[in-house]
Amino acid sequence: MYDSGKIIPGLIIFVLLITFPIWYNHGDAGEVPKTEMPKYNRLCVLPLEEIRPNHMKMLNQWRDEVLRDEDRSFIAVEGKMYQKSLQNTCMECHVSKKKFCDECHTYAAVTPYCWDCHLAPVE
Ligand code: HEC
Ligand code: HEC
Ligand code: HEC
Repeated sequence: MYDSGKIIPGLIIFVLLITFPIWYNHGDAGEVPKTEMPKYNRLCVLPLEEIRPNHMKMLNQWRDEVLRDEDRSFIAVEGKMYQKSLQNTCMECHVSKKKFCDECHTYAAVTPYCWDCHLAPVE
């Protein structure tokens, strides 16, 4: 029923194609994309080495605290108070979803579904 003479070479080509960036760069996944950083604020809500790998966990934690415990309490960054909010906080500093969030997510092949409901800043 199946034409293994076509499927197997097809699979091999597919695997070679999707792993191309890895073997082409000798196992190095390549440069991390350059994201557009906020111009006025120097600090994020967490230090860079924590926000980079943990931002998705932090957003989930914020959401749970806001929705389950109605805890929207503010957090201070450089003396300014911020709400626990994706739209009102993250996107106030990171004004471009395209040039910031999407830049990395496209590279990492993740598509957070948050924007089905939450509004991205108008660009
Ligand atoms: C007060 C402004 C401000 C807020 C609010 C803020 N950020 Fe940031 N964010 C920054 C700055 C400035 C940097 C760069 C920090 C540095 O270089 O130390 C940054 C860095 C990051 C990075 C790392 C980017 C990279 O290329 O390595 C991620 C991811 C990030 N922020 C996500 C978020 C998320 C998600 C939120 C909301 C939970 C958020 N930020 C809220 C200002 C902010
Ligand atoms: C420095 C690169 C970088 C930037 C900038 C960045 N992200 Fe991410 N984000 C990632 C990576 C990598 C993952 C996938 C991590 C994983 O799967 O463990 C991810 C995953 C997520 C997830 C979870 C998605 C899922 O399906 O699991 C959310 C939510 C998220 N990011 C929100 C944001 C928001 C909002 C912004 C912009 C304010 C942002 N991220 C900016 C790198 C980044
Ligand atoms: C089906 C629609 C929907 C989707 C999809 C969704 N949310 Fe929400 N989210 C809501 C609603 C509704 C609220 C409550 C708004 C309020 O009370 O301020 C909320 C609140 C939140 C809050 C706290 C309040 C605020 O202003 O941000 C965070 C943080 C949050 N969501 C993060 C996320 C993240 C991260 C994702 C993607 C991984 C996501 N949400 C996906 C509907 C959604």
